[in-house]
Amino acid sequence: MSVLQKTGSEQAIELEDKYGAHNYHPLPVVLSRGEGVYVWDVEGKKYYDFLSAYSAVNQGHCHPKIIAAMVNQAQTLTLTSRAFYNDQLGKYEEFVTKYFGFDKVLPMNTGAEAVETAIKLCRKWAYERKGIAEQEAKIIVCENNFHGRTTTIISFSNDENARKNFGPYTAGFIKIAYDDLDALEQVLATETNIAGFLVEPIQGEAGVYVPQEGYLAKAKALCEKHNVLFIADEVQTGIARTGKLLAVHHENVQPDILILGKALSGGVYPVSAVLANDSIMGVIKPGQHGSTFGGNPVAAAVAVAALNVVEDENLAANAENLGNLFREKMNAYIAGSKIVSAVRGKGLLNAIVINDTEDSSTAWDVCVALKDNGLLAKPTHGNIIRFAPPLVMNEEQLNECVAIITTTLQAFEQ
Ligand SMILES: Cc1ncc(COP(=O)(O)O)c(C=O)c1O
Repeated sequence: MSVLQKTGSEQAIELEDKYGAHNYHPLPVVLSRGEGVYVWDVEGKKYYDFLSAYSAVNQGHCHPKIIAAMVNQAQTLTLTSRAFYNDQLGKYEEFVTKYFGFDKVLPMNTGAEAVETAIKLCRKWAYERKGIAEQEAKIIVCENNFHGRTTTIISFSNDENARKNFGPYTAGFIKIAYDDLDALEQVLATETNIAGFLVEPIQGEAGVYVPQEGYLAKAKALCEKHNVLFIADEVQTGIARTGKLLAVHHENVQPDILILGKALSGGVYPVSAVLANDSIMGVIKPGQHGSTFGGNPVAAAVAVAALNVVEDENLAANAENLGNLFREKMNAYIAGSKIVSAVRGKGLLNAIVINDTEDSSTAWDVCVALKDNGLLAKPTHGNIIRFAPPLVMNEEQLNECVAIITTTLQAFEQ
């Protein structure tokens, strides 16, 4: 049968398979519409979205206020480049810096670009303000980190699949165990030329690892003691996902450099940002960093609308409440389960651990069964399934989702 004779899902999957690079392994479902917490496939079947595009769609699919801001701006002015000023960027910059409590923002597009920006900013600060000798600056990172896919970022990943045969790698990173204050203290005390500590407040991609309480606050204090910049990558954990506006707010930490992406636009447009105070951001001068699309008027208008939704709809408090409920109900299930060994997370960034080996297909099979039962989720690594629905979910919907998840898991219990 030719591609054109096939209908719906089959055709879409075949087209991607034939003409697209095979750099992803999607669940076999083809989506064509989204609204709030729901998405629909091309055959019209409705699903709960329990991934939210890796926490980009915190405000729910196609939020009318964000879409209106985007359409309105798209019909007026889309791109000027930063060769000229535009009438949206300054308003957004004032808004976003006040919203998160920093002096300045550097606008970019994707999460990885924002991480790269933070690395460059940190190194430049180290040479020009801290006095580290040229080429010597080092940034501490954590094992099992995920910060994106660029050549520099994968240089300090320890995911072999993400790294192998992409070298030569970028130097200047020291890797320590995550959630290990002794390791951080030791490296800060013994190594010279440390510029920054780059950390995810919760390791999302690695499998939703929540550090011990106090880790972030103590790590920040150690960084302060050694005049090292504390760089929080909140691309996945930020913008209300974990029950606070930022995950570092659980420990009253204000990072020296904050990295945001994903839900900064509610998932409607690639918008990312790096925020810092003048003493740090001041090292960047014209011509030293940039992006054609970074800070474009559509991005600026969309981000303001997306952040207003977070506040107007109390999404952080909702994530906190529903997250507690979710873990309580999953723990009740796990008490009598052989197939699930744990649930963990904060707010509505959670994961369950399937009681099987990391290389087994059980987690994948559970996700396929969840899809058949009307809920979309995906394994992160091996036997871990991440659950991160849009934050506009209500309690009734959450209860329905828990019922779908537990009924589905039940079928896998021996
Ligand atoms: C913590 C973290 N940083 C950076 C990124 C990269 O973002 P992007 O895929 O937009 O480049 C991700 C993506 O999942 C992430 O989770």
